[in-house]
Amino acid sequence: MTKLSLGPFQGITDAPFRNVFKQHFGGIDKYYTPFFTGIQKDHAKNLQTEEIDPSCNDVETLTPQILSTDAEEILRFATQCKQLGYKAINLNMGCPFPRVANKKRGSGLLPYPEKVNEIFGRVFESIDVDFSVKCRLGYFNPDEIFPMIEVFNRYPLSELIIHPRIGKQLYKGEADLEKFKEIMPLIKAPLVYNGDIVSVESFVRINKSLNCDTSTGSVDEFMLGRGLLANPFLAEEIKGIEAQGDKKTRLHAYAIALYENRLRHAGGSPKVLGRMKELWSYMMNSFDDPQNIWRKIKKINALKDYKNAVEEIFREMDIVI
Ligand SMILES: Cc1cc2nc3c(=O)[nH]c(=O)nc-3n(C[C@H](O)[C@H](O)[C@H](O)COP(=O)(O)O)c2cc1C
Repeated sequence: MTKLSLGPFQGITDAPFRNVFKQHFGGIDKYYTPFFTGIQKDHAKNLQTEEIDPSCNDVETLTPQILSTDAEEILRFATQCKQLGYKAINLNMGCPFPRVANKKRGSGLLPYPEKVNEIFGRVFESIDVDFSVKCRLGYFNPDEIFPMIEVFNRYPLSELIIHPRIGKQLYKGEADLEKFKEIMPLIKAPLVYNGDIVSVESFVRINKSLNCDTSTGSVDEFMLGRGLLANPFLAEEIKGIEAQGDKKTRLHAYAIALYENRLRHAGGSPKVLGRMKELWSYMMNSFDDPQNIWRKIKKINALKDYKNAVEEIFREMDIVI
């Protein structure tokens, strides 16, 4: 059975998003938090927020993610996540942004297999939750993945999620399916594919391509990203879950519920607008005139104007999903 997860998006897939999404749409089996950093103490402040609080999250289906190259920090994070009831943590080795990668963090760690070996050696001495990795093929070069796989294979990773681009590419070009297929048979950990699944058609194409020759391994777990932010019905559609009710009505209810939920949790902070705009920069693609949607969303400057703009969009515009 195909399993689907939702990739983490810093600034978008926060706890209110995950909870509202789950109430409105089906098809996603697993979630990941956007990455945490700066776990300097045993009772870290940023692990005392609703983002990870078990009363606001489902510890069975959510995996907290950390961006770090410090084994002690990773272990501190693991211990605190375990105390909160989580069963697994995930290490971000995929973030491509220069501010992160230039410090040999995120995908910037991929050219340094020996450094990763040192970190994992220490982490696996004492970690007592599942430990998974999300990475790219490399930072400068997609062949960086080969020595890194040798390191990954020395440790009992609970899963390895690979987005087959390199860090330097950011999100340009296409996910490299051929390279992903080449590395599939080399990887011991349960493998998850992530990248460019934007429609049922692209899912079918990628799934067929990866699973056409089972003698070289198979993949039955896929992480969705921008495709699901644009079309929140995507996981239901991929799984063939029968559509419930009118799509436009459901999308409208979701856009309002998420806004209201975020507003409640942020105590009315205008920061909520920024987060909603970021989501709309993807969701606009579900409408027949995305640029027009974006013009309407971009010009909202005050919280009081958000709902009116959304009402207008759903009254006047057609969806294409
Ligand atoms: C704005 C933005 C924020 C992201 N934040 C994270 C993050 O916190 N952790 C992570 O592992 N990946 C992060 N990603 C990467 C996505 O989870 C995903 O791997 C990427 O978009 C590729 O999948 P897709 O082609 O299906 O979108 C982010 C991507 C974007 C565009």
